Amino acid sequence: MNYWESKIDEIERSLKTGDKYKKWRGDVLDPWNKKTNYNEREYYNSSRIKIKELYDRDDLPSNIDDILGYPGVYPYTRGIYPNMYRGKLWTMRMFSGFGTPEETNRRLKYLIENGETGLSIAFDMPTLYGFDCDNERSHGEVGKCGVNVSSLYDMERIFDGIDLSRVSTSMTINAPAAVLTAMYFALAKKQGHPLEKISGTVQADILKEYIAQKEWIYPPEAHLRLIKDMMVFCTKNAPKWNYISVSGYHIREAGSDAVQELAFTLADGFYYIDLGINAGLNVDDFAPRISFFFNSSIDFFEEIAKFRAARRIWATVLKEKYNARNPRSMMLRFHTQTSGYTLTWQQPLNNIIRTTVEAMAAILGGTQSLHTNSYDEAWALPSDEAVKVALRTQQILAEETGIANTIDPLGGSYYIERLTSEMEERAYKYLNEIERMGGILNAIKSGYIQREIAETSYKRQMRLENLEDVMVGVNKYIEKDERPINTLKITEESEIEQINKFHELKKRRDINKVKRSLENLRKAMEGDENTMPYIIDAVEDYATLEEISNIGREVFGEWKEPKIL
Ligand code: 3HC
Repeated sequence: MNYWESKIDEIERSLKTGDKYKKWRGDVLDPWNKKTNYNEREYYNSSRIKIKELYDRDDLPSNIDDILGYPGVYPYTRGIYPNMYRGKLWTMRMFSGFGTPEETNRRLKYLIENGETGLSIAFDMPTLYGFDCDNERSHGEVGKCGVNVSSLYDMERIFDGIDLSRVSTSMTINAPAAVLTAMYFALAKKQGHPLEKISGTVQADILKEYIAQKEWIYPPEAHLRLIKDMMVFCTKNAPKWNYISVSGYHIREAGSDAVQELAFTLADGFYYIDLGINAGLNVDDFAPRISFFFNSSIDFFEEIAKFRAARRIWATVLKEKYNARNPRSMMLRFHTQTSGYTLTWQQPLNNIIRTTVEAMAAILGGTQSLHTNSYDEAWALPSDEAVKVALRTQQILAEETGIANTIDPLGGSYYIERLTSEMEERAYKYLNEIERMGGILNAIKSGYIQREIAETSYKRQMRLENLEDVMVGVNKYIEKDERPINTLKITEESEIEQINKFHELKKRRDINKVKRSLENLRKAMEGDENTMPYIIDAVEDYATLEEISNIGREVFGEWKEPKIL
């Protein structure tokens, strides 16, 4: 029996169903259903776990006292901090970015004025793929789904008037994560702050790009080398920087169910642990700065159980399999974004309710940071009005509902504890299957992970088509003649303005310094030196994002996804 099988066996032995429920069923429920002509139907959650009509004490895992524990104590099922939101509310961190750096700077200040407590930057497609704004492939995409960053000059404009030592910033960037991190660090240095003081996160989890979001540049091994370089560099020089945000969000948005999101995200996380250990790092030196990013979808209790299972699995595996000793290595810290795929363009105001329910699940699940989607996002990037409602949703949940006033209020619930263990067991089964395939990288390259997700997505769509699943306004309670709503417009002028400013920058910079720093970077990439110092030098000389990314294209090549049958 391998490690995963031992965990599966442990959970199976803890889960039994008792006689009280059967007695109630026979004596009370069945006669009632008969008398009222109720035709029984089965209920399942997104992970296709069958949901009983009632849970009772017998449904609690037999080892509940050991696996539930207390907040701030291993295995952290009830939360990672001893006093959780009574000590500090989750960070209200709204994913933001569009148009020119100036337009994004305005939105950041608008959100700060309205009470957001963390920054989160969304980048446009050219930036995500490592192309400058004036590349012909970028035409029409500059500033469209995020802000354009082609050089350090753009980062200076995005954060104009914002002191980086007083904020924590998340950057969702992935393939060029090392370059954008270098730009952020370079900007912090220009503001006079030592890197030790700089808090934030970069989304650099490239494995989920091959699984779901598909925004890569190089072959996996090349990106994993750059992530390893960031891991080593940040562990030494930027102790408050979360150098990777292991993401389940996009796996779920690609159509996975909650258990698949849980299992595949954790499998990615364990891969990064192996990456750090193989780089010669002690697990307790770098694991504390691995953080996570999950989706919160509409099946309320399933999501809460998913977050609690995630904390317990991560803590248990770090302690038992990786021999972590530092509690912070075992504490799974995560950001949550409410579900994108449950947003509908039909009756868009309904999305406020969906986002509220999903945000409540994240809070009751113990998230450290939260983004709430805006009701108009199935139409376009959020308007000022819509994004304010999304932020106010968090503030109402925090200040008016009382759900933040006690820790893990659903802890001990027959249903929640049973579901948490059932999801945990299914996640361990996937982790065992992935190990059997030779690890997550092999499972991705073989297409197994992508096929599992596609299969789930297809079945969910079929259930919607045949009305087994309902989406209000979409396949039930439909309104005719829905009118378009007013949405944020990203104008052509933004692209023109951004390109003009980019060309002015290229005229101003010292091209000889740029050439020298790019040549030094190439040597580092061709060798096995840590590339981060060279990338920082290059961005400080205003080498552009594409110039730097192209060195990687020349040294590592580009990745073409193998055909997945
Ligand atoms: N008592 C005392 N101290 C406490 C506390 C308490 N109750 N709660 C928190 N704190 C402390 C923490 O220890 C921490 O201090 P430290 O930095 O010294 O450890 C500090 O307060 C901040 O708390 P957290 O670290 O818990 O919260 P943050 O918000 O700073 O960090 C995170 C949260 C998850 C760890 C971090 O990685 C993060 O912010 N991630 C955000 C990722 C993100 O925004 N991603 C968006 C992606 S958008 C996307 O991809 C979707 C798109 O593609 C569609």
